[in-house]
Amino acid sequence: MPTSPIETIKPLLRTLQGERQERPPLWLMRQAGRYLPEYRALRAEKGGFLALATDPEAAAEVTLQPIRRFGFDGAILFSDILMVPWALGQELSFGAGEGPRLTPALVDAALASLEAAPARLDPVYATVRGVAAALSPATTFLGFAGSPWTVATYMVAGQGSRDQEETRLFGYRDPAAFTAIIKAVVALTVDYLAAQLDAGVDAVQLFDSWAGSLSPEQFERWVIAPNRAIVDGLRARRPGATIIGFPKGAGGKLPAYAAGTAVDAIGLDETVDPTWADRVLPEGLPVQGNLDPLALRVGGAALDRGIDRVLAAFPERPHVFNLGHGIGQHTPVAHVEHLVARVRGA
Ligand code: CP3
Repeated sequence: MPTSPIETIKPLLRTLQGERQERPPLWLMRQAGRYLPEYRALRAEKGGFLALATDPEAAAEVTLQPIRRFGFDGAILFSDILMVPWALGQELSFGAGEGPRLTPALVDAALASLEAAPARLDPVYATVRGVAAALSPATTFLGFAGSPWTVATYMVAGQGSRDQEETRLFGYRDPAAFTAIIKAVVALTVDYLAAQLDAGVDAVQLFDSWAGSLSPEQFERWVIAPNRAIVDGLRARRPGATIIGFPKGAGGKLPAYAAGTAVDAIGLDETVDPTWADRVLPEGLPVQGNLDPLALRVGGAALDRGIDRVLAAFPERPHVFNLGHGIGQHTPVAHVEHLVARVRGA
């Protein structure tokens, strides 16, 4: 059962549920990953990303690595947004140095030709149970999924792309076929997030990493509406579920996203002026973000200035400190230690 603010001692969860903390709780997107030597060692031992992500014991260990090192307020499940297309029946691989691949790409093959394999998600739920049993009661455990538009860009093109052109064209040329893909992702994502909550996560985040590439009309159709369908579907099945939306690149469309999706909290990327966001977003809506990951990589004065600006931007609003996007693999661990100390006021 989701906890209510008065019952939980988790500062991050309380913030996401609307209660401002004097010092913002913090976690970092992609906090489990290649910038950590202990992650790289375990990944090499297991023989690759997918082997690691489908080994519940190893995936739980990777989830906990950044918590042990930095004492973040939130732990994020170690998995990937592409587990959903894999469970919808595409084959998934993460080749060394080339990014993920999904086959067959849906520019070439019909969705109906795929054979769904939802049991591929079972190891994820085992990972969640393992992490939930190991975490301290003050640490918030975050599950996640990709948002339908972002997931569909990989399903259609079969891989990442700079401006999602193939998928944007597909959405214009064949809206019926594209709607079927979006609907399939929505349906499985609701099941997937409900099962993550049942297995022990406290809240979930929807990553819409490529929300920034759409025109306002297409943004309404492929970003706002499907995210809203997930929010409504999940709340119907798990009343009180706490949901963070992260529409990266949404910029001036953030207020429309907030009103249209009804998420509990919004992640801001590093291109958003936080003072502007504070002015235009609904009063009291919790926000998360938005230090530039490159300021963290560089360190020194640029990092301190960036941290202080973000800390000063939300004088009254519930705020979760985070980056504007994932932490980069070349980020020095010492810079993360410095960030944690400064955000905590040490
Ligand atoms: O945040 C965390 O620490 C939890 C785990 C997590 C991963 N991916 C692990 C991962 C999360 C939340 C994600 C989300 C994800 N995956 C997104 C949305 C967020 C974002 O960064 O925009 C996207 C678009 C993906 C798809 C994906 N997975 C790509 C494009 C790549 C290759 C490039 C890259 O960023 O590394 C991955 C691989 C991946 N997912 C790695 C990790 C730790 C690196 C795998 C490796 O060890 O080589």
